[in-house]
Amino acid sequence: MEIKVTKSTNPQRERPKDSELGFGKYTTDHMFLMDYALGKGWHDARIVPYQHLRLDPAAMVLHYNQEVFEGLKAYALANGGIGLFRPEKNIQRMNASAQRLVMPEVDSQLFLQAMKQLVMIDREWLPKSEGTSLYIRPTMIATEPMIGIRASERYLFYIILSPVGAYYPEGFNPTRIYVSDTHSRAAKHGVGHVKTSGNYGSTLFVFQEAAVKGYTQVLWLDANELKYIEEVGTSNAFFLIDDELITPPLEGTILPGITRDSAIQLATSWQLRVSERLISIDEVIDACRSGALKEMFATGTAAVISPVGEISYKGEQFRIADGKTGKLAQRLYDELTGIQYGRRDDPFGWRIRVD
Ligand code: COI
Repeated sequence: MEIKVTKSTNPQRERPKDSELGFGKYTTDHMFLMDYALGKGWHDARIVPYQHLRLDPAAMVLHYNQEVFEGLKAYALANGGIGLFRPEKNIQRMNASAQRLVMPEVDSQLFLQAMKQLVMIDREWLPKSEGTSLYIRPTMIATEPMIGIRASERYLFYIILSPVGAYYPEGFNPTRIYVSDTHSRAAKHGVGHVKTSGNYGSTLFVFQEAAVKGYTQVLWLDANELKYIEEVGTSNAFFLIDDELITPPLEGTILPGITRDSAIQLATSWQLRVSERLISIDEVIDACRSGALKEMFATGTAAVISPVGEISYKGEQFRIADGKTGKLAQRLYDELTGIQYGRRDDPFGWRIRVD
């Protein structure tokens, strides 16, 4: 399918400075849109000036959360080009999310082409300083006006871009994490593994509680017993206990993170013992008390590798790695960002060129 392009005649003149970017505050001059109707399929792929959407107030996304999204980044490569990191994984995951919410899949070639073309059109927005990138947010929403509940017969797929810096105000410095022993994020056999807005909106209540207490993020425990580690906010959790690197298994309640998968592959290639297994909060606290817990960090597209310096559980505070960034978190961060920004070899073939 051809993508019709209409360029903005009024691009934004004032661009934010790289040092002021933060995460997700700004959007660029263009967006990609494509419509779907039952019986007609996807049609009218187009790149247009960034603008408001027109939605009927009865559009089903607004009532029944038929929405899925993704997050990936375009990087200014060391040799002057523009790169993406494992975009095929985001495309696969978005289509898997769509399937779970009875939404139509998007052709993977067209999806990739749309992202590349949009990034090229707005390439002036790609920030160049260390740690910055152009965040890509593909989104699909149910647009049919219908108050009765069933799967929508119309959808909009769109992609927007946002120049970003570090996700957390701490940057790469260790965060303080609040363990919720009162609420959970997702139950078995549900949609915890699906990248859909409801999974994020429903976390805000505890996130707010953590923020008021001065914590950066929430560590979620399983819905059944509030015992096993699930995720850290929007990221996957890793623990280095003695010489074992542990991360919770993908059993349908946590997001199958692409950075998680990359960290596992890198650590395995360095001959580390990596276990995808259940790990309870008690095991973490015991390991912390005995000194066996060497490091804890979180992985995610937005947060990259985010070391954890302290956790709070049932009113008690536990310091991890003396509140400092651990060696493994640092090594993973350096290697991963080295590959993403084209400063290091790419033995796994993860980096692709946009231009
Ligand atoms: C990402 O890491 O890309 C995410 O989805 C986090 C986002 C919710 C800010």
